[in-house]
Parts: sequence; C-alpha cells; structure tokens
Amino acid sequence: MPRALIAPSILTADFGRLAEQVRAAEAGGADLWHLDVMDGHFVPPISFGREVVAAVRAASALFIEAHLMVAKPAEQFADIAAAGAQRLVFHYEAVRDIDATREHIQAARALGCEAGIAINPETPADALFPLLDALDEVIVMLIRPGWGGQQMQPALLDKVRTLRARANAAGLALLIEVDGGVKAHNASMCVDAGATLLVAGSAVFNDTQTPEEALAGLRARIAP
Ligand code: DX5
Ligand code: ZN
Repeated sequence: MPRALIAPSILTADFGRLAEQVRAAEAGGADLWHLDVMDGHFVPPISFGREVVAAVRAASALFIEAHLMVAKPAEQFADIAAAGAQRLVFHYEAVRDIDATREHIQAARALGCEAGIAINPETPADALFPLLDALDEVIVMLIRPGWGGQQMQPALLDKVRTLRARANAAGLALLIEVDGGVKAHNASMCVDAGATLLVAGSAVFNDTQTPEEALAGLRARIAP
C-alpha cells in the first residue's frame, strides 16, 4: 500500500489537449482525479463546470472528486455528479451553519456520492470537529484557494495533525487531503502530518516534465 494517494488537479493542464494529458497522468500512476470547479464568486476565477468533468470522465476510469469552490454548492451537486464525479467536496466557508452543512452532506449522499468538506487557510480545524463522523473526506487547503502554482504554507499542516489525531481518537477512517503547493520535495512532510491524499496540480502538469515523469518523482518520495 502506498502511504498516500496522488490526486492530480488539471488546473494547469493544457486544455487544448486535455484527454491526452489525462491519459498520460493515468498511465503515469495517478490514483484519482481532483477537479477544481470555481464560480467567480467564492473565489475570483472561473475555472470549469460539468462539461470538463464529463470530458475527464470520458477519458479516464479513475475515481473523480470534485472540489467545489463555489458560493452555492448544493445547486451544483446534481450536475457535477451526473457528469461523473463520485465525491462532492464543498467549502465549509460557503455554508458554515452546522445543520445546513449536514444537509449538504446528505444531499451529496442522496446522489450516490461520497461527501467531503474543504477548509480555507483561515478556518481552524476544530470548526469541523462536530462533522467528522459524517464525512468521508476533509481537504485542508495549504494555499488561498483559486489558483494553481502557489507556494504551500507549511504551518497549515498543523491542522492536518489536529484532524488526524481527532479522527484517530474517535476511531474514524477519515480521508485527509492536502491541497496547494504539493511538490516532490514536501510530499513526505504532508504524509507524515497525517494526509492520506495529496492534490498535485502544477507538480504534475507543467512545462518541465511529462505527467509520467512528475508522478514517478512524487511517488518515489512517498514510497513506504
Ligand atoms: C486551488 C486548487 C488546487 C490547485 C492546486 O484553488 O484547489 O487544487 O489546482 O494546484 P497546485 O498543486 O499547483 O498548488
Ligand atoms: Zn483543489
């Protein structure tokens, strides 16, 4: 078993040859897809929506999680699930109210999807404590969301340690994913903190390496 799964994000991929890039990353050992949906409200940029999720689904059989950086996530769930996403991850900051958050989790499950919540750098880990038993996954953002290619803020790994300790104490097999600035040189540090999934955007899709080379480099750093 690898110490963690690698979830490429296509944000910095070449969208003119998306299917080719997706197939290259799958051949290179990607474990699942992390697809960043942005609405221009929750975060300033607009990235893509269901059509691109469907294009990745058509090009790859790997599991797809959608990271919804949108102001009204529940309104997107059905379309994104129908396009092929199998886990719907929304932002705590877009909902906040605990009861409403639970309703979002139920809505994702009603569509046959797993459910996750992402937290921005300014949100403390303990905001999620009341929800951990209802979640499949937590994403700890290690950057300000909205853009690929930023530098990780390593101090935010403390939240991963806190959430892993809390999940362990409660006997929960919680998936904890880190998102933002993950590279070969810091991947091991993320896993040591307790992350079980690593998002890798510009580490996989860049101008200096093929996706296959990049994934081999990442994998080597988190080998058992
Ligand atoms: C940013 C996205 C990330 C992004 C990561 O808001 O959530 O998933 O694609 O890109 P890198 O790995 O380049 O930081
Ligand atoms: Zn993301």
